[in-house]
Amino acid sequence: MFYQFPENFWWGSSTSGPQTEGRVEGDGKGDSNWDYWYKQAPEKFFDQVGPGKASTFYEHYQTDIDYLVKTGHNSFRTSIQWSRLIPDGDGEVNPKAVAFYKEVFQRIKDKGIRLIINLYHFDLPYALEEKGGWLNKATVIAYERYARICFELFNPWVDAWVTFNEPIVPVEAGYLGQYHYPAIVDAKKAVQVAYYTQLASSLAVRACHQVDEDKKIAIILNLTPAYARSTAKEDQEAAEIAALFQAKSFLDPSVKGEYPKKLVAILKENQLLPDYTDEELKIIKENTVDFLGVNYYQPLRVQAPDKRKETHPLNVDHFYQTYDMPGKKMNPYRGWEIYEQGIYDLAMMIMKEYDNIDWVLTENGMGVENEGRFRDETGQIQDDYRIEFIKGHLIKLYEAIQDGANCHGYLLWTFIDCWSWLNAYKNRYGLVELDLYTQERRLKKSGEWYRQLANHNGFEAQE
Ligand code: BG6
Repeated sequence: MFYQFPENFWWGSSTSGPQTEGRVEGDGKGDSNWDYWYKQAPEKFFDQVGPGKASTFYEHYQTDIDYLVKTGHNSFRTSIQWSRLIPDGDGEVNPKAVAFYKEVFQRIKDKGIRLIINLYHFDLPYALEEKGGWLNKATVIAYERYARICFELFNPWVDAWVTFNEPIVPVEAGYLGQYHYPAIVDAKKAVQVAYYTQLASSLAVRACHQVDEDKKIAIILNLTPAYARSTAKEDQEAAEIAALFQAKSFLDPSVKGEYPKKLVAILKENQLLPDYTDEELKIIKENTVDFLGVNYYQPLRVQAPDKRKETHPLNVDHFYQTYDMPGKKMNPYRGWEIYEQGIYDLAMMIMKEYDNIDWVLTENGMGVENEGRFRDETGQIQDDYRIEFIKGHLIKLYEAIQDGANCHGYLLWTFIDCWSWLNAYKNRYGLVELDLYTQERRLKKSGEWYRQLANHNGFEAQE
């Protein structure tokens, strides 16, 4: 059957400044937390490849924007690097950054592509990190200033703004796991960082509407319903808590303007409540997002904590543990489960629990290692697995829309192979191949397929 999507559906991709731009001598960019961490500990990064070059978008944006057209984009999301625009986080604006972003945004608009600009994709100016980062309220104030500067400078080119991408990730990875800087384990700090990030997001929503009351602004969350191992009471309870921590900690204040009561009660009971004021809670209450971005890669499978293990309320495994479900379908390169039904289930959750707020699927994709082995005789990568991955997820999205979900776009991760945090260039996600040595770009088979998908506003597949 032909899966026909609604009119004006957003087809395109998402990426981020830190993962694509790279740095060149004299560009005026300051160090971000990633630049700093790489200098301190390059061995943590796959093949010791750091964020310095990324996919050289800063130098090759003209070619890359042409590839957006070649792959059928009518929409594109990237992010401004705070450390490029304001190198020390709260001081002078870098005029070279202003010129660069204006030129890039103008070029994208000239191609008739909808532009969605995110303000923060895991990248804090190191000068602010050094002063305590998101544990310090001064960072919230600096972020609000940065956001306002972006709105004032770039609003005419931007169709929709985003405050943060996946704000729970730096909380989990930086303060509970150890794969983002500052790589510490401290639940009390994690909660404070999460709270200040939410406050910053709400302040950016307010600033955006002050600059242009009609402009839409979103937050992007990595959502999935939490699936319990079993129907046993303990597993169900664990899944409920996992959803509160992992999703609703940002979803509820961003969409409903309030934290879930049960989450607050758990934090209180465990002496984990952050410093806050009533005035701040009022700002959160009054500045909810206009729409939601949802990133979906893998489900969250949960089981009750193992009672035999000594756990401490300052670690999340005190409340729930990840469930390694036997027989699950995997992307072995990334180590993530592939579960298409998750899209449908989260669409229904948004519909039922979040008043069917307007949303866009802002990331979904498949990272694969060593794709060179899939070349055909012409040298093109035949990434049929990526096409199948996208189709499988789009079918579930289609069904959700048929059943009333208010989703109006699909943005793939991502249009060109890009640098990824600690994994650097291990897994490739692009519709376009990037040769790291020559910087040559080349369409993959999926790039051609994606153009057809966007041009036809749908695709043919077996039911
Ligand atoms: C998302 C992030 O969580 O997943 C991206 O927003 C990231 O920045 C993407 O690159 C894919 O994950 P990874 O770790 O394989 O790059």
